[in-house]
Amino acid sequence: KYIKEVKGIKILEENLKDCLGLKEVLIVPGNLEHSTIKQEIGRFTAQLVKNMLKDGDILVVTGGSTLAQVARSMRFNDKSMNVKVVPGRGGLGEEVEIQANTIASTIAKKIGGSYKLLHIPDSIKEENVDRILAEPSIQRILEILKKANILLHGVGSAEEMACRRDMSPGQVKELLSNGAVGEALGYYFNEKGEIVYITTSVGLHLEDLQQIDKVIVVAGDPAKARAIISVVSPKFHDLLITDELTAKEILKLK
Ligand code: G3H
Repeated sequence: KYIKEVKGIKILEENLKDCLGLKEVLIVPGNLEHSTIKQEIGRFTAQLVKNMLKDGDILVVTGGSTLAQVARSMRFNDKSMNVKVVPGRGGLGEEVEIQANTIASTIAKKIGGSYKLLHIPDSIKEENVDRILAEPSIQRILEILKKANILLHGVGSAEEMACRRDMSPGQVKELLSNGAVGEALGYYFNEKGEIVYITTSVGLHLEDLQQIDKVIVVAGDPAKARAIISVVSPKFHDLLITDELTAKEILKLK
């Protein structure tokens, strides 16, 4: 039975990989309950990333409860590593536990690496961006981000993320009427994967993803299937980590 299950997952991974056009898809098996999906995906991703990391790497992480679970599940290293962990974009404003800064520092401590923080809100006024960018301390972090070789980011449903990031009801309505279904890195995408809105923040931009060797999306929850389809693209992503139910839901929708 076990071998049959493993085979089933392998087939599902292949199907999803082809369907999304990605190089690699990894699926956490099982008909997981909503409450345990994030834990299981977090544990799986933590182990995978930890095994992948080597001295000299710069790992970029975003915020969110899935990434927080990755950080929480990561085991401590007995020795230190020359790895820098950096948040991908500003993100102050969300609960501190799920901010990219917190996740970066937690992962860095667990692996015995170092971290840098970005003390910038997720959404800033357009006219303030240049001033913030001119700050030497911010410049230094942006320089590190340019050299990043691994990125780990989550996906959110557009509506949930807009509400979580304190958009007004009017703005949320407008965003959704413009077709937004998914969000990642402050970018909102429609069903066709087109950008419909970008939050003004500082850090990684979508086009920067093409310069990063390994871009990993981690997202699981059948309710996020539409959002995942909208965000994930072979142009930007190398690996998707999800769970069995979500994988099946994506295939059903595609
Ligand atoms: O940008 C995506 C979100 O940060 C994902 O958040 O993992 O809490 O669903 P979540």
